[in-house]
Amino acid sequence: MAIKLVTTAAELRIESARLLAEKRGSSQGLVPTMGALHTGHAALARTAVEQNDVVVASIFVNPLQFGEAADLERYPRTLDADMALLDAEGVDLVFAPSVDEVYPGGEPLVRVTSGPLGEKWEGASRPGHFDGALTVVAKLLHYGLPGGPAADGGAAAYRAYFGQKDAQQLALVKRMVADLSFPVDIVAVPTVRNDEGLALSSRNRFLSEEEREAALVLSRALRLLESRALANEPLELDSAVALVESQPLVKLDYFDVVDPRTLEPLAENCKETPFRGEGLAIIAAKVGPVRLIDNVPLSS
Ligand code: PAJ
Repeated sequence: MAIKLVTTAAELRIESARLLAEKRGSSQGLVPTMGALHTGHAALARTAVEQNDVVVASIFVNPLQFGEAADLERYPRTLDADMALLDAEGVDLVFAPSVDEVYPGGEPLVRVTSGPLGEKWEGASRPGHFDGALTVVAKLLHYGLPGGPAADGGAAAYRAYFGQKDAQQLALVKRMVADLSFPVDIVAVPTVRNDEGLALSSRNRFLSEEEREAALVLSRALRLLESRALANEPLELDSAVALVESQPLVKLDYFDVVDPRTLEPLAENCKETPFRGEGLAIIAAKVGPVRLIDNVPLSS
């Protein structure tokens, strides 16, 4: 394997500087993950490798963003397989720090506050989740800064990659970077799905065969809205909601069409008149033991 594993922020900085110099590179990409990697994560890594001279992937199961301790313990840890997947995509460095490395003084007293954008939708059922996620993303974005200058002596470009799959997280990371002036460009990567349309997620492994089948109604309902928007037809969101609710194994939490940046509902745009403009259809449901989220961008 050409890929290299580092576990401390100091090593990461040294290795990334060395790689930038060795490759005479001018850009560095960061792909933050919690491991248990699948083809969705691979798409982030591939995009980062295409766009940057040096690519770092981080693997850190962040205790701060988990509600229940049991959920944190159950989270799959598959470092060897993860390294092989990242190596195959051409990633240079894996940063897999311990909890002590990231939070040396225990839980941080000062955190990033996600504000009203972090309290709705996913935030409503997972209090504190987005504060925890943004706090670690802030730290990871600092750790992942290019360790040295570009080959021409100027500042190396710095990009970080996030999945469209987690639309609210993406919107929040973009706002954090803009509102707090982080020197990084955030690149969104489209959602990767299996052949049947199910958005890939490390949680899918906890679905039974029957539940997996039932879960397909989420992407089916989203696709229905997508095709209505493209055809300049009324979205008739209510009928798509009814489709999801007709599936007894699926307990719908929310299903709405929102502004992709503010996540405010575009309610009037969803009824009898043709859909106009840009939107995001977002859905969350419990299927068996698993909470699933999905979304599709809408445009007309
Ligand atoms: P994790 O769930 O491991 O996801 C890492 C990245 O992969 C996220 O940006 C997520 O949106 C993206 N991703 C997951 N499934 C995807 C799919 N099917 N298609 C495209 N991208 C997908 O999200 C996190 O980790 C954490 O919150 C993190 C940002 C690392 C902070 O701890």
